[in-house]
Amino acid sequence: MPPTSPRKILVTSALPYANGSLHLGHLLEQVQTDIWVRFQKSRGHDCLYVCADDAHGTAIMLTAEKLGISPEDQIAAIHTEHERDSAGFLIGFDNFYTTHSAENRFWCEHIYHHLQANGHIASRNITQAFDPEKQLFLADRFIKGTCPRCKTPDQYGDNCEACGATYSPADLIDAVSAISGATPVQKESTHFFFTLPALEDMLRNWLDSDTLQPQVANKLREWTDAGLQEWDISRDAPYFGFEIPGEPGKYFYVWLDAPIGYIASFQNYCERTGHPFEPYWREGGDTELYHFIGKDIINFHGLFWPAMLHSAGLRTPTAIFAHGFLTVNGNKMSKSRGTFIKAGTYLEHLDPEYLRYYFAAKLSGSVDDIDLNLEDFVQRVNSDVVGKIVNIASRCAGFLARGFDNRLATSCAEPELVEHFIGRGDAIAGLYEAREFNKAMREIVALADRANQYIDEKKPWVMAKQEDSQDEVLAVCSVGINLFRALMTYLKPVLPAMAAKAERFLACSLDWTVLQRPLLDHQLAPFEPLLTRVDKKQVEAMVEASREQTPPPAGASPRAEAPVDEDGTIQFEDFARVDLRVAEIVAAEHVEGADKLLRLTLSLGDRQCQVFAGIKSAYQPEDLVGRLTVMVANLAPRKMRFGISEGMVLAAGPGGKELYLLEPHAGAKPGMQVK
Ligand code: MSP
Ligand code: ZN
Repeated sequence: MPPTSPRKILVTSALPYANGSLHLGHLLEQVQTDIWVRFQKSRGHDCLYVCADDAHGTAIMLTAEKLGISPEDQIAAIHTEHERDSAGFLIGFDNFYTTHSAENRFWCEHIYHHLQANGHIASRNITQAFDPEKQLFLADRFIKGTCPRCKTPDQYGDNCEACGATYSPADLIDAVSAISGATPVQKESTHFFFTLPALEDMLRNWLDSDTLQPQVANKLREWTDAGLQEWDISRDAPYFGFEIPGEPGKYFYVWLDAPIGYIASFQNYCERTGHPFEPYWREGGDTELYHFIGKDIINFHGLFWPAMLHSAGLRTPTAIFAHGFLTVNGNKMSKSRGTFIKAGTYLEHLDPEYLRYYFAAKLSGSVDDIDLNLEDFVQRVNSDVVGKIVNIASRCAGFLARGFDNRLATSCAEPELVEHFIGRGDAIAGLYEAREFNKAMREIVALADRANQYIDEKKPWVMAKQEDSQDEVLAVCSVGINLFRALMTYLKPVLPAMAAKAERFLACSLDWTVLQRPLLDHQLAPFEPLLTRVDKKQVEAMVEASREQTPPPAGASPRAEAPVDEDGTIQFEDFARVDLRVAEIVAAEHVEGADKLLRLTLSLGDRQCQVFAGIKSAYQPEDLVGRLTVMVANLAPRKMRFGISEGMVLAAGPGGKELYLLEPHAGAKPGMQVK
């Protein structure tokens, strides 16, 4: 029973971007949130869960353009898909809305006006890369070029995937717009800023208030300690978003309007249902507000968002619950390994409750990453849920149906045991409340072991054959059913569909609030199977279906997409396509006008080639002549400002003077293949 009157709780999970499908990482978050919300509801609290699609921004605008549809059509299509996938995983949103809504526009303008009135909005001109063809300012990730350090081509934004260098996109060699291929120009425009430094005191208090997980607060203190910067909240047209009032051609940056989408979605819910709205956003009320988010977006939720709310005179969150990232089989999700699993693909092959249970068994209140190990997944679900929990009910149900018309005994044969199970409820509730779901599952499975042990000791299957033991069969199976009922009550937030079947069978509610006394002299409904075992083959089929085709071999399309996974790994065949050869440096010279490059003439035994190498900071040309090194010999020739470069030499080190050309051991001959 809830000890006091019901709490009024509003819960959100992060708004997924409307330009892609949900994958199992998104579902980790939604499942975590949903379990917590279902738990609160089961405890009798007034708990509401709202979410929405994050519909604005350049990426969505460009996706729609590529598909030849309007952004509105694009976000509508994704909205349907997201809703279907979340529902497939039994995510019980009270409202799933969109940031592209009238309510959200209203709240963005409302909050902006408050920030402005408080003097928390500044404006000034900044210079940025601009795509002259597309007439579009380019965020860093839309600029690509050759890494200034290692010369790897096609590097996006401000860091190199090949060597890890970080730089300003302006330093990229031969930088081009990733959208049109045009060379970006620098262009000035006016931007609007939220003056975070003015809210430093408020933010320091907030970070010290124990509202955040300790790891999160520490991470965010790095921001305040380094000195808060003003936050750029505007973007120039063309942009898919809300225009800033009174500033034609200027739009709110998507990260400004996204969290405001929480308010908008909740308002939409309240308007639909008549639920009170205002008490949830007023300062000092008795309502609670929680945001579940991934660890990658803590700065937006832990700094910018509370600062905005505070300046606008609205309440700040009661807590922010950040979780870690999902890995699969110990690695980042990978398309080539088939572990970048979309929600829809999972649902085509497997029951959602398998994953809900597995996530629950792994999730804690910390921001540690969570690994979905597919072998462990099969084993754990089959052993815990099917082998232990379901087993209690199925072994008792048969005897009760055959001999006793599904009616439970009139008295309890093991009151202490049943009371022990009911008595563990508060401890388990405490674990749910603290999001220590893994500990809750461990406790529940330990109780299931105890229940199975009881049945094993009593051996109803032996007694059933003896005429004078019928009462005892009924007594044992009735106890077993009562133990099962307690466990299913505790598992209902995790396994809502299985719990619904159990509720039909038990003919009673599995809400936490009604679990007090054992069911006696109680009529059950016929037993129906609750959950079948996970079949390893289904998991394999899901991985196969998720595996992206290896790109066509060289030749088919010389500029095929780089076959690099999200985690940066490549397949062996990709590596094998690189022709590494021993090369002799037969000539080396300075290049006029280039401050980093040397022109090398390399001999591969049967042929010579010219390579521009960025090693000038570490070598004098004359010291290089006659040396052997290793080169990429089948790199497509590239036209550079100073001539054509026909390959690449390999060097190690951070750069500057510390750059070391690779050199094979004595005995290697020019032209030899490196493998
Ligand atoms: N649109 C923003 C959130 C705006 S909230 C006002 C966004 N969208 S997202 O689609 O990229 O991510 C949505 C949520 O999913 C984030 O909390 C993010 O951390 C989480 N996850 C995305 N990939 C994930 C994993 N691989 N693992 C766990 N969670 C991950 O960010
Ligand atoms: Zn590089």
